[in-house]
Amino acid sequence: MLERTFSIIKPDAVAAGLSGAILAEIDQAGFRFVAIKKESITKREAEGFYAVHREKPFFSSLTDFMSSGPLFLMVLEKDNAITDLRKLMGATNPANAEEGTIRKKFARSLQENAIHGSDAPETAAFEIGYWFAGYELI
Ligand code: RTP
Ligand code: MG
Repeated sequence: MLERTFSIIKPDAVAAGLSGAILAEIDQAGFRFVAIKKESITKREAEGFYAVHREKPFFSSLTDFMSSGPLFLMVLEKDNAITDLRKLMGATNPANAEEGTIRKKFARSLQENAIHGSDAPETAAFEIGYWFAGYELI
């Protein structure tokens, strides 16, 4: 089923000059870019985005990191986009990520792990609506 997911190239990867390589991986995996924008987000915006993790011990550190520098916000489309992007990303901790995945190739640590992808249809809908207006989805 044709599906949309939300993704972020995180500040570690953008700062390291890896944006082009990661965009190429996503493109080669057959995703269509519905929307893409480069932004620097505030800590407050990061807190709203990661609200499901509010009680986690890493919440403050994570939202500091996500607001530490520019990132790319993206809406991606393909059949089974949500599951397929998670597979392409690899495990959260790059130490556990499978060979060939984006996190295996490009992530530096459990927190600075290069890319975000929505984990379910409900979260994809929330995350797309959090960062993009309807007219930006083309
Ligand atoms: P994401 O939401 O960014 O796509 O990553 P995920 O689903 O693979 O991982 P999740 O559990 O949702 O965690 C969100 C992000 O928080 C950072 N994290 N730090 N123990 C820690 O220090 C820790 N655990 C997670 C990572 O940046 C993770 O991607
Ligand atoms: Mg997650």
